[in-house]
Amino acid sequence: MAQKVIIIGASGHGKVIADIVLESGDDLLGFLDDGKEPGDTVLGFPVLGRVADYARYPEAAFVIAIGSAAVRERIAKTLDGVRWYTAIHPRAQISRLNVEIGAGTVVMANAVVNPGARIGKHCILNTASVVEHDNRLDDYVHVSVGAKLAGTVSVGARTWIGIGAVVSNNVTVCADCMIGAGAVVVRAVKEPGTYVGVPVKKIK
Ligand SMILES: CC(C)(COP(=O)(O)OP(=O)(O)OC[C@H]1O[C@@H](n2cnc3c(N)ncnc32)[C@H](O)[C@@H]1OP(=O)(O)O)[C@@H](O)C(=O)NCCC(=O)NCCS
Repeated sequence: MAQKVIIIGASGHGKVIADIVLESGDDLLGFLDDGKEPGDTVLGFPVLGRVADYARYPEAAFVIAIGSAAVRERIAKTLDGVRWYTAIHPRAQISRLNVEIGAGTVVMANAVVNPGARIGKHCILNTASVVEHDNRLDDYVHVSVGAKLAGTVSVGARTWIGIGAVVSNNVTVCADCMIGAGAVVVRAVKEPGTYVGVPVKKIK
């Protein structure tokens, strides 16, 4: 049966999630967004109110469309007890073999998730990203557009792997890192921070 879905965050990321909801045959009720006015529309769907208005919609499942992992985490914890919508694009390629995907995670079109991968809650596997076999992604991880994680990679909570970045096989990236656009990670990243380049170096 079609689910009734509300997207929290009406930005560009929210628009892509709206596409997933519709492609999945579910029913998009609208958006909650603290930066917009009730009555605004996004892609023809209504802004229903602010995030704090979520309790008016007990029939809905919610998905958080906000890029910042810290904000996603805060909202996820504040709205504890709601039903989370796990948004998986019908043209994402997800193995049936021992894959786990946490509640509220978003998997966009052409993303690939291979056998044995465990993905946490409220993660983003962006368009055409690759999460290879036996990866471990903690909660709130974002794998950006076209980024690739080779086999048996682990990524800690809230870490953001930038667009087109690559993490080599068997490598661990700790929590709270930003791996820059186009970066290549070939050894363990053990301290939170911002890393760029080939191979990566810490800049912040
Ligand atoms: C890594 C990143 C977060 C740094 O942003 P920032 O903190 O604003 O840093 P700055 O732009 O001030 O750059 C600092 C230095 O790092 C360099 N740098 C920044 N990003 C870089 C990257 N991806 N690769 C190589 N060098 C980079 C800059 O050229 C600058 O060098 P300089 O001091 O010699 O001039 C950002 O550049 C980035 O790569 N973001 C990824 C965005 C993304 O993946 N979006 C995905 C959407 S799906």
